[in-house]
Amino acid sequence: MDILEIRNVTKTFHTRSFWGKSKTVHALNGISLSLAKGESLGIVGESGCGKSTLASLIIRLAEPTSGEILLYGRDISHVKEKELKDIRKKIQIVFQDPYSSLSPRMKIGDILMEPARVMGEFSEAHRKERAEMLLEMVGLRKNVMDRYPHEFSGGQRQRISIARSLMTSPEILILDEPTSALDVSVQAQVLNILMDLREKLHLTYLFISHNLAVVRYISDRTAVMQKGKIVEIGGSDEILTHPRDPYTRELIAAVPMIGKPFVPPDRIMELG
Ligand SMILES: Nc1ncnc2c1ncn2[C@@H]1O[C@H](COP(=O)(O)OP(=O)(O)OP(=O)(O)O)[C@@H](O)[C@H]1O
Ligand SMILES: [Mg+2]
Repeated sequence: MDILEIRNVTKTFHTRSFWGKSKTVHALNGISLSLAKGESLGIVGESGCGKSTLASLIIRLAEPTSGEILLYGRDISHVKEKELKDIRKKIQIVFQDPYSSLSPRMKIGDILMEPARVMGEFSEAHRKERAEMLLEMVGLRKNVMDRYPHEFSGGQRQRISIARSLMTSPEILILDEPTSALDVSVQAQVLNILMDLREKLHLTYLFISHNLAVVRYISDRTAVMQKGKIVEIGGSDEILTHPRDPYTRELIAAVPMIGKPFVPPDRIMELG
């Protein structure tokens, strides 16, 4: 069974312009896709096409206007606050900005243990053990538990965010441009850690990026989004070598070396 299935989801926002005129934005326009357990699915598309909106519906920061979001076959798109806790143990998210996503006045240990504390997962001793294990898995020493976020670089902070997202043993990780704010060499390092974690912890990824090269590197399949719709979905290599949709071709053309048969990973990242 698919771990996650999105069926014909739409999301409409009603806003007002500066002059008070009401405006309707169709952020998602009938999205359907499914994620198999252990798979990594990439989502690419230009700014404003609805990628983060889709992520926010899956982790239930917002509800869809219509359509269904099924987790193990059960619609979670309108479940109540009490049940959200269970969903959030299973689905976690990592955001782009490693500077604003870690609370500056908390020690790294508390930052890591907080989600599990809030959800009442594990004993305090077990949480500490788990935090230390995850820090090691993302390439940091366990003695960083007593330090503060400002003592770390962007790449290190993003690794801490990744470790935190894994504290409640989620099955699905949504990665919303997790490496876009990082330097090229650091990007490659974080992507390699993510690949490693996926294998070791049997995770399922939804990897969002505007960079096709990054998505190809980390995802088995890729979905191309444009204006709230999926215009093309298929194997990541297939999409890059034989794009069918004109919009996909445009995206590929914008990344000069990507269609070549082999580009080493650290070179790929420079192209985004
Ligand atoms: N809370 C909101 N209220 C009103 N409009 C919104 C809201 N959230 C998103 N939108 C609009 O929905 C559309 C999709 O936005 P979204 O943030 O999902 O795009 P994105 O693909 O993640 O873009 P980016 O690559 O820049 O992160 C945009 O037109 C955006 O302005
Ligand atoms: Mg976004």
